[in-house]
Amino acid sequence: MTQKNTWSDRFESALHPAIAIFNASIGFDIELIEYDLTGSVAHAKMLAKTGIISETEAEKLVAGLEEIRQEYRQGKFNPGIDAEDVHFAVERRLTEIVGDTGKKLHTARSRNDQVGTDIRLYLRAEIKNIQNQLRQFQAILLKLAENNVETLIPGYTHLQRAQPLSLAHHLLAYFQMAQRDWLRLADVYKRTNISPLGCGALAGTTFPIDREYSADLLGFEDIYQNSLDGVSDRDFAIEFLCAASLIMVHLSRLSEEMILWASEEFNFIKLKDSCATGSSIMPQKKNPDVPELVRGKTGRVFGHLQALLVIMKGLPLAYNKDLQEDKEGIFDGVKTVKACLEAMTILLEEGITFNRDRLNNAVNEDFSNATDVADYLAGKGIPFREAYNLVGKVVKTSLAGGKLLKDLTLEEWQQLHPAFESDIYDAIAPKRVVSARNSYGGTGFEQVRNAIIKAQNLLKSHSNT
Ligand code: ARG
Repeated sequence: MTQKNTWSDRFESALHPAIAIFNASIGFDIELIEYDLTGSVAHAKMLAKTGIISETEAEKLVAGLEEIRQEYRQGKFNPGIDAEDVHFAVERRLTEIVGDTGKKLHTARSRNDQVGTDIRLYLRAEIKNIQNQLRQFQAILLKLAENNVETLIPGYTHLQRAQPLSLAHHLLAYFQMAQRDWLRLADVYKRTNISPLGCGALAGTTFPIDREYSADLLGFEDIYQNSLDGVSDRDFAIEFLCAASLIMVHLSRLSEEMILWASEEFNFIKLKDSCATGSSIMPQKKNPDVPELVRGKTGRVFGHLQALLVIMKGLPLAYNKDLQEDKEGIFDGVKTVKACLEAMTILLEEGITFNRDRLNNAVNEDFSNATDVADYLAGKGIPFREAYNLVGKVVKTSLAGGKLLKDLTLEEWQQLHPAFESDIYDAIAPKRVVSARNSYGGTGFEQVRNAIIKAQNLLKSHSNT
């Protein structure tokens, strides 16, 4: 590491070896190489179009950059720490391949607008990938919902039995969360898809560049209006990590439910062998490692969001090396969200079975139909609050007598209130309790079937576009 470094002749001696390692980002920004090459190709073409370099020179540069792409894909391009970062590594290799013309590539460009371009190109592609994964996740939630409209599951508030639900309704709640996640990413995409290329180090450039042209070549929708903002803006990355964090919130909540459901206490689902793990000491155990890991990995993504916010908050304009610290969090955020979405989709698709008998017993053996008794009386003109108090008393005496509401005789009901008639039994049967909640967006089967049709149409319209 005593060789001379990459910068100008102003520097007389090389970096201290430990500082060279400390300073280098090649260990992680190699992840950007394909985008760096693509960005450089567009830059070279723009330089030729504006007459800053000749067509022949641009052709040479483009051919050289594509050769590096092939070398990289074949595992033959492995720059070391001495290259400092992916941008220097590419430029150095390019000059080896095409000779001195390679040294013209960096005309009218700085690593500051270059790295900003790379990271936007990377994130743009990954946002699309994550959106596609969200669609697959939604599709499997929808399939499970379609098969479980009339499967009932206890609904909870405060983790106390509240009112029974259609299992499909429960699953479709996650479909809606994923839909918001998808839309949020579509929105972040708009602000990611803006080109900083040509902003230079911070102030623009003396060369007659055409920023619109390179932006067009790269498929950017717009260009940054202010060069200082262009090189130092990371809002889009913060927004991405925020959207990623919310995806993780949703996956983590679903994970938490699945962990509970797989416990002996709930026993609502069984984990299949393909998605569960054993214990090294307790032979009877089958552990829900997948949802536990998803729940655990959520913290990393939140951490990356927090880290980037803190990195940005004290930065004077424009570029500061602190910005090199944006990358690992962004990369890990992307990888973590993708891995979690994939694992959860597999888990839902083939890793669990719903224990229908147990679910059926659960909703038949509790007081989650108590609201419906109150609604029954309210339907007969008794003020709801009065009915509510009366049913509270009924629950209390039933509990004391070790009975459920369905076990009360008609005489007992009528002693409680003369308005009760024999149709009370129908009114409190779990299926009826669920189907009666036919208000828009409620768990009533008719509502759930409508929600399924809407979800199907949404996924269909997406696959046609
Ligand atoms: N490796 C650097 C980064 O990730 C590239 C930009 C370097 N710019 C500079 N002025 N030193 O941010």
